[in-house]
Amino acid sequence: MKVLVTGGAGYIGSVVTEELLKDGHEVVVYDSLYQGHREALVNGAAFVQADLADAATLQETLSANRIEAVIHMAADSLVAESCEHPAKYYHNNVVNGLILLDAMRETNVRRLVFSSTAATYGQPEKQPIQETAPTNPTNPYGETKLAFEHAMRWYLEAHGLRFASLRYFNAAGASENCGEHHAHETHIIPITLQVAAGTREFVEVYGADYLTPDGTCVRDYIHVIDLARAHILALKAIDDGSTGERVGRIYNLGCGGDGYSVNQVLEMARAVTGKEIPARVGPRRAGDPAVLIASSQKIERELGWKPEFQDLRVIIESAWRWMQAHPHGYRE
Ligand SMILES: NC(=O)c1ccc[n+]([C@@H]2O[C@H](COP(=O)([O-])OP(=O)(O)OC[C@H]3O[C@@H](n4cnc5c(N)ncnc54)[C@H](O)[C@@H]3O)[C@@H](O)[C@H]2O)c1
Repeated sequence: MKVLVTGGAGYIGSVVTEELLKDGHEVVVYDSLYQGHREALVNGAAFVQADLADAATLQETLSANRIEAVIHMAADSLVAESCEHPAKYYHNNVVNGLILLDAMRETNVRRLVFSSTAATYGQPEKQPIQETAPTNPTNPYGETKLAFEHAMRWYLEAHGLRFASLRYFNAAGASENCGEHHAHETHIIPITLQVAAGTREFVEVYGADYLTPDGTCVRDYIHVIDLARAHILALKAIDDGSTGERVGRIYNLGCGGDGYSVNQVLEMARAVTGKEIPARVGPRRAGDPAVLIASSQKIERELGWKPEFQDLRVIIESAWRWMQAHPHGYRE
């Protein structure tokens, strides 16, 4: 298929591009580079540097390249920032998302795989979280991702849009060439490895008095390559015209086990790197649930998704290899 990847110069988008190319697809990356990196662009993919807000360029890109499907990953995705600046999130994640949906409608592109998030659930009562759990986002980031899911559903009803929304939990790890480099890093694995690499002083642990086995929060980590491969399965599924297309497909993507506590992540990072990695326990962060774990059974059952790197050691080893090869991220 000819696939447009919005946000393809970002962390997950670059690995999705790699996997699409390996699977024989043609890829056009559409990214403004306002957060992503030119060095993260994958050889073999075409690149259009433009913003989603630029409706004319978006439409022209879809039609000139005869795009058949879109993987929509471009977004703002910092929870704390979204609470301070909700308008930024509504504009980029909802308004710009609608510009994409309209450009797709205009150019008759009817297949869409969307990067959604665990933040659409808020603080669910039951773990592991299934797709049937109620959605009650506790921040504008989750709220805007959910709003876009709802928009896709109505575009399906009215315009025959086929979509799959993938609700990722915590993406982590790296491929050989593409890794995680966010200007403002909030994710525990790269932060921990920055401490190991000596570019950050210590890891702040947000609370150690939760009702979990070691008192620290438990989260679910998924290797970015396993995550990327799920997009290809989702693309194929929405192409085959089976029953899911009448309602749109929603799938969780996590590691599918018991998850790992913050202390377990720290211990594993110390074991992998051989470094001390100092950590300090600080106060809890507002709105952090004690445990967030995905049930990934639905995507395993329906699409035959089989994660290959579902192991914290393997995830951290891959991230550490990438960080050692890119001590300053993509800014070489
Ligand atoms: N990283 C995670 O653990 C995680 C978890 C859940 C969901 N997600 C979602 O996955 C997607 C990718 O996440 P990531 O960590 O790779 O993010 P990222 O910031 O590394 O990549 C996002 C890319 O989108 C581009 N972009 C943003 N707004 C744009 C616009 N208006 N026009 C053109 N380009 C634009 C940025 O330049 C960047 O290259 C996001 O939608 C995010 O919400 C990520």
